[in-house]
Amino acid sequence: QELKMSLEQIEKGGYEHFMLKEIFEQPKSVHDTMRGRLLVDEGVIKMAGIWDHVERFKNANRIIIIACGTSWHAGLIGEYLIEEYARIPVEVEYASEFRYRNPIITDKDVVIAISQSGETADTMAALKLAKEKGAFIYGICNVVDSSIARITDAGSYTHAGPEIGVASTKAFTAQLTILTLIAFKLGKHNGNLGNAEFMSLIAELDAIPKKIEDVLSTTHELTQNIAKDFVKATNFLYLGRGYNYPAALEGALKLKEISYIHAEGYPAAEMKHGPIALIDENMPIVIIAPKKGHYDKIVSNVQEIKARKGKIIAVVNKGDRQVSEMADYVIEIPETSECFSPIVASVPLQLLAYYIAVYRGANVDQPRNLAKSVTVE
Ligand code: AGP
Repeated sequence: QELKMSLEQIEKGGYEHFMLKEIFEQPKSVHDTMRGRLLVDEGVIKMAGIWDHVERFKNANRIIIIACGTSWHAGLIGEYLIEEYARIPVEVEYASEFRYRNPIITDKDVVIAISQSGETADTMAALKLAKEKGAFIYGICNVVDSSIARITDAGSYTHAGPEIGVASTKAFTAQLTILTLIAFKLGKHNGNLGNAEFMSLIAELDAIPKKIEDVLSTTHELTQNIAKDFVKATNFLYLGRGYNYPAALEGALKLKEISYIHAEGYPAAEMKHGPIALIDENMPIVIIAPKKGHYDKIVSNVQEIKARKGKIIAVVNKGDRQVSEMADYVIEIPETSECFSPIVASVPLQLLAYYIAVYRGANVDQPRNLAKSVTVE
């Protein structure tokens, strides 16, 4: 028992929990995901899994992304990325729904499965179904040689390193990094992404690990202080638009799975179709509002929340005025192009969920009722 404890301490590298360690590993893990793939000076993205089958992607009727949980959230952001930069239609489905609804799949479809563990039963079964129907199947996995990695026709590993905490953190940002690389590579190849824009985007992507590092150092203490005020909260809303709508879903999932506080993510504009009825002075609302990406629309959503006295925790860019003036708590993140903002915005939301859970005395690395990989349906 003692030996086990000390080994575990060593593995945690001085952090109290694996989750915190993994949150702090993200500058490195995102960098590792890009290593050997993103060659900024040469203006090239090297991905053998994509390049060897690039015509399959180019001629695909559509791409269907299947996944569960956090990986499904990454898939939603993948849809925004691939549709924006490669202009290939993308659908994103929960693996568990896809496999049982007799989906129409043909040999002109490309099916991408996203799975940290590579062992999720529903994702595996959905892939097998797609393969039987003749689709080209591609895997984005973190665990090398996992079951999903082995049955796919091709794929890309995220190389985020082992993720021990049940709540996915660094695997998520690594998945976003891979999806970004795929979108840019396909867009460049099929001519939808011009060279100048491609060059500027890849240079920006290359600098993302540094931005994650900055955000970790500027928000670590701040998120602890904010967390203290919400230890007794019973509900949370997370709102975002565009690329940050899935980031809001992911922020809510992080909080609910480790702190057991009920949390919902919503596209901010959907608020007035129902959830606005929940807003009063007891409702904390995390709103992701970076400058690039529907900022003016978000401002009016925040005004609506403010008028109903909701407690606003705003994730904004440095120097923001409009949203910050209305917010009760302000978390600043560096400015990026919209497509990178979920990577940077997710980091303080992971920290916030982590500290709320810690202050509630929850077992953050092994939350009740949850397993790291769900190998049964
Ligand atoms: C993430 O924090 C969750 N624990 C969970 O939703 C997870 O993302 C899901 O079970 C999918 O796992 P996978 O990526 O290993 O397939």
